[in-house]
Amino acid sequence: MRTTADSPEVQIDSFLSEADERSLANDVLDGLTRPFKEIPPKHFYDARGSELFERICALPEYYPTRAERQILLAHADQIVSATGASELVELGSGSPEKARILLDAMSRAGTLRRYVPVDVSQSALEASALELADEFEELSVHGVIGDFERHLARVPPSAIGGAPRIVALLGGTIGNFLPGTRRRLLREIGRLLGPHDRLLLGTDLVKDPAVLEAAYDDADGVTAAFNRNVLHVINRELGADFVPDAFEHIAFFDRRHEWIEMRLRARRPCSVLVAGLGLRVEFAAGEELRTEISAKFTRPRVEADFRAAGLGLERWYTDRGGLFALSLARRL
Ligand code: SAH
Ligand code: TRP
Repeated sequence: MRTTADSPEVQIDSFLSEADERSLANDVLDGLTRPFKEIPPKHFYDARGSELFERICALPEYYPTRAERQILLAHADQIVSATGASELVELGSGSPEKARILLDAMSRAGTLRRYVPVDVSQSALEASALELADEFEELSVHGVIGDFERHLARVPPSAIGGAPRIVALLGGTIGNFLPGTRRRLLREIGRLLGPHDRLLLGTDLVKDPAVLEAAYDDADGVTAAFNRNVLHVINRELGADFVPDAFEHIAFFDRRHEWIEMRLRARRPCSVLVAGLGLRVEFAAGEELRTEISAKFTRPRVEADFRAAGLGLERWYTDRGGLFALSLARRL
């Protein structure tokens, strides 16, 4: 499906369809019938989920957004001059804040041509595409509403053949995948890279567990609401009857794996009907549903993931507090 927004320099393609309702259905069917229940994190992001995530990014406890922004502000000019990039492809783009910093640097360098945001959240993508197209006169925007695990082949090729691009995956989103899937995804993203293109990857770093746990369990309960949002999505899309408030938000740092794990814990026994699937799911009191991991990295871990994915680390940037890292990598 192709829809062109009212602005001539904005094109938005959508590849989400019934297949994606099936993807939620399959994930729910597989995930809720396992001995350890689990739902993949991309289902958090409907319009309300994207809004809640925006609020998470502004929380005092959620340092990753500020740290990554600080790195971008300090190094965007260098990243852009090192790559000569005229295009920014951003996977899981969400809000326009971080892209703006890179596009600004490209504009200053006089190379800016095109922005290609890719996101499953239609509302977030449309808003951000229109806002940025408005802001940068020379910019054309070609958005892709789709799942970067399945639709990378739909990312349009470079507008000017061979002109360098930055393919960005920011916000620590890569950490939301289990290690094997993460390396597979990095390899697939690597296939988008021509010889002059670079991957810009944001990774949250290992640190004091108390700091990590607070970032995923804020005092205002915004993250808890975000976590429970996945139950609202399942209720709406699959006609389920989850009572979201019957589930408690859990976030803890798993020291062995060095990742944050987010779960929803049934406060009491719950019998849930997922009408759309003809499925009844029982939760014992205290039973937990894993909704997300958020892996934390060290430089050797990033380098090992890159190597396994056929990529090579070229530059490593961190913020002053050493909380977060941005890596620039090329395809080997
Ligand atoms: N890049 C932004 C947002 C990070 S939140 C930042 O750094 O602040 C993760 C974003 O990725 C959300 O906008 C979500 O809608 C999107 N997303 C998550 N899984 C996705 C998938 N499989 N395919 C495409 N987008 C996805
Ligand atoms: N990519 C973000 C992260 O891992 C996603 C995120 C932040 C998140 N807070 C969350 C996901 C809370 C679920 C619940 O940091």
